[in-house]
Amino acid sequence: MIQNPKGTHDIFGSEMTIYQAIRELYINICNSYGFKEIILPIFESSNLFQRGVGESSDVVRKEMYTFLDKGGRSITLRPEFTAGIIRSFIQNKMYANEELPVKLFYHGPTFRYERPQSGRYRQFHQLGVECVGLNSYLLDSEIIALGYDFLVNLGLKDIVTLKINTLGDEETRNNYRNALKEYFANYIDKMCDDCKSRYELNPLRILDCKIKEDQELIKNAPKISDYLSEKSKDRFNKLVAYLDELGIPYAIDESLVRGLDYYSETVFEFHVKNNDEIDIGAIGAGGHYSSLVKELDGPDMHGVGFSFGAERLISVVKDNSEKLGLNFDDQLAVYIMPLGNDKVREEALSIAIALRQSGIPSQICYEEVKINNMFKRAERKNALIGIIIGEDEIKKEEVQVKNLSTKEQIAVSYESLVDTLFEMLPHDDCHCHDHDDCCCSDENESEVGESEKCCCHHHK
Ligand code: HAM
Repeated sequence: MIQNPKGTHDIFGSEMTIYQAIRELYINICNSYGFKEIILPIFESSNLFQRGVGESSDVVRKEMYTFLDKGGRSITLRPEFTAGIIRSFIQNKMYANEELPVKLFYHGPTFRYERPQSGRYRQFHQLGVECVGLNSYLLDSEIIALGYDFLVNLGLKDIVTLKINTLGDEETRNNYRNALKEYFANYIDKMCDDCKSRYELNPLRILDCKIKEDQELIKNAPKISDYLSEKSKDRFNKLVAYLDELGIPYAIDESLVRGLDYYSETVFEFHVKNNDEIDIGAIGAGGHYSSLVKELDGPDMHGVGFSFGAERLISVVKDNSEKLGLNFDDQLAVYIMPLGNDKVREEALSIAIALRQSGIPSQICYEEVKINNMFKRAERKNALIGIIIGEDEIKKEEVQVKNLSTKEQIAVSYESLVDTLFEMLPHDDCHCHDHDDCCCSDENESEVGESEKCCCHHHK
């Protein structure tokens, strides 16, 4: 049997329902913060990531899916979105044609050749934002607020921790890099092979090493806070003071350096604890970048952004749904149960299509099975209303409508079916004249307050 490639996975069923809810919430929040969606190619020229993400990052050194296409071009499946966004920002001259900052959001698959383990895949999905063209701690704060708002709205407020740090400006990092080189020079022989090459390429990367022996060495390494320029110190202080003002809790973590080369100043990660209070890693991360736009041959402009990992969000939401009182069970409005031959089933399907066109999600039973079995299927689909139809009903142009929770059943004519169903289905924010809180003075009035929804089809 053909299996999916190692490190990939299928998202379906309840996980897909959760992912859809996550994506919908994410899009709404991004829209409310003034971000516009962008779709980028899944593959780009390899040198975009070599230059953008950086030669010293693990992503570029070891994890890229790179191949020659039939024209001999070196192509890479995107390992992240930021470099592609900046390529598009420059190529489409957004810096000149659009008001700055340009605020973009995205979601889609990303590819890294990593060692698969829990929460770590070779194809995974990211949801992210980039805000490009202006440099201010205010934009860093706004981006963090967006990410935090999203997690709060997902119901994760009590289990999420925001870790934050500053990598300072170029002057800061040059001084700090020298200090790290001096410190680690004494321990090169004891370091893992990866850290030996990190020492040459970018000693800051050593701080990100997960190997236990190396972590012991890292503990006593110089701290970036001792090397921050006055400007960077001031920028970071303003940022954290403003986060305090916004009521966003955070923990400053000086060991946070991030694994991609383009960061400067603010960096941050959102972490969650699992049910055993163990940190399961970052569900989202990001930061500020000062020279990425310039390095990709664009103008001297800054940006800031983050990306969430969809698979990690799905698993956190799934694990905590009971505790958080979240319900991601699919619900179906109407399940139609035809009793009889193909002609009856055709009629049932026609009714389902008509109901769907009126905005009522409907499904039918396609097979000839006993009525009890049909009710079981309706239950499994979490249907609210059952419709039973047989040859007699078709002759009378009516159906039997059953409220599947109260078990009440009534005969309803084809003509009044849509109206009856709309009345039976939940409609929390409906204000039409068929309800106690009706806003119309007249039963026949056809207008309703602008923002109000109608469930009875009398108001548009
Ligand atoms: P990153 O930290 O490499 O940052 O990835 C962001 C998130 O993607 C991680 O926090 C994690 O949730 C998820 N993730 C990463 N690798 C995997 C994997 N192998 N399997 C499952 N999930 C994964 C970036 O990609 C930056 N582009 C973020 C950014 C945007 N910085 C500025 N703007």
